[in-house]
Amino acid sequence: MARISASVYTSHVPAIGAALDLGKSAEPYWQPVFKGYEFSKQWMKENQPDVIFLVYNDHASAFSLELIPTFAIGCAAEFQPADEGWGPRPVPKVVGHPELAAHIAQSVIQDDFDLTIVNKMDVDHGLTVPLSLMCGQPEAWPCPVIPFAVNVVQYPVPSGRRCYNLGKAIRKAIESFDQDLNVQVWGTGGMSHQLQGPRAGLINKEFDNRVLDRLIADPADLATLPHIDYVREAGSEGIELVMWLIARGAMNDRPPKVRHRFYHVPASNTAVGHLILENV
Ligand code: DHB
Ligand code: FE
Repeated sequence: MARISASVYTSHVPAIGAALDLGKSAEPYWQPVFKGYEFSKQWMKENQPDVIFLVYNDHASAFSLELIPTFAIGCAAEFQPADEGWGPRPVPKVVGHPELAAHIAQSVIQDDFDLTIVNKMDVDHGLTVPLSLMCGQPEAWPCPVIPFAVNVVQYPVPSGRRCYNLGKAIRKAIESFDQDLNVQVWGTGGMSHQLQGPRAGLINKEFDNRVLDRLIADPADLATLPHIDYVREAGSEGIELVMWLIARGAMNDRPPKVRHRFYHVPASNTAVGHLILENV
C-alpha cells in the first residue's frame, strides 16, 4: 500500500524563482533565504519520495474569474510551467501520476469533498517555486507530482477546518492505494504577506511563528482559526496559510518529528516560512 512519510511546508514567493533562474541566489539579499533550504535539499536527496502530492494555489494563471474551483486535482500525465507574464520559468515540466490522482479523486469525492478534476493545466510559481527550493535546478524533477490547487485568491475561500479535514480524507485515500509508494504531501503559500492596498508589505513575525508552533503541536486547534483572523493578522495573501492545514491533516495522529524549521524576513514582500515534518 502507499504510505505518507513526511510533509513539507514552504512559502512560494515568485521572486525566489526569478532569483534562481537569473543566477542571483548568492547575492547578499537572497543568500539567507536559500541557506534556509540547504538542509532541505540534502534531506530530499536522502528521503526521495515516489510521488509528491503538492498543495498550492493558482494565481490566475490556469484559472481566472471565469472559473474558480475551490479544490482542483491535477490528473494529467504532465503539466507545463505557466507563462505568468515573462514567459514560462526555465524549469522541467511536471510529470503527474494519473493513476494515484484518479484514485485520490475517487476516494475523496466519495468522502464528500467536491474536487474539480483537471486533465489539462499549466502550473505557476505556487507549484514550481517550492520544487525549486527543495530540489534545486535539476534536468528533471526527481519524481511525479500531483498538483492540488486551492482557491485562496477569490472569496469565498475554504476554511482552515475544511482544509484540515480534507487533508485527513487525502491521507485515507493515499493509504488505500494499492501500490507500494512513498508519498510526501506538501503545503505551500504564506506566510504573512499583503500585496495590495494600504497595508501592502504587512509582515507579522509573531503571528507567523505562532502558526508554525500550532501547526506542529496542535493543528486541530489551528484549524479553528477563522479566515478573517488570517487576513487581519497575516494580510490579505496570508490566507494562503490555510493550505498548510491540508498537508498537516494528511499526517498521522502521532506527534510528528520536526526535521527542519526555518523563518526569514523579507523575501520580496513576504515572510518565508518552511517546515519539514516526518511521520513517526
Ligand atoms: C508574491 C506572490 C505570491 O503568490 C506569494 O505567495 C508571495 C509573494 C509576490 O508577488 O511578491
Ligand atoms: Fe502565492
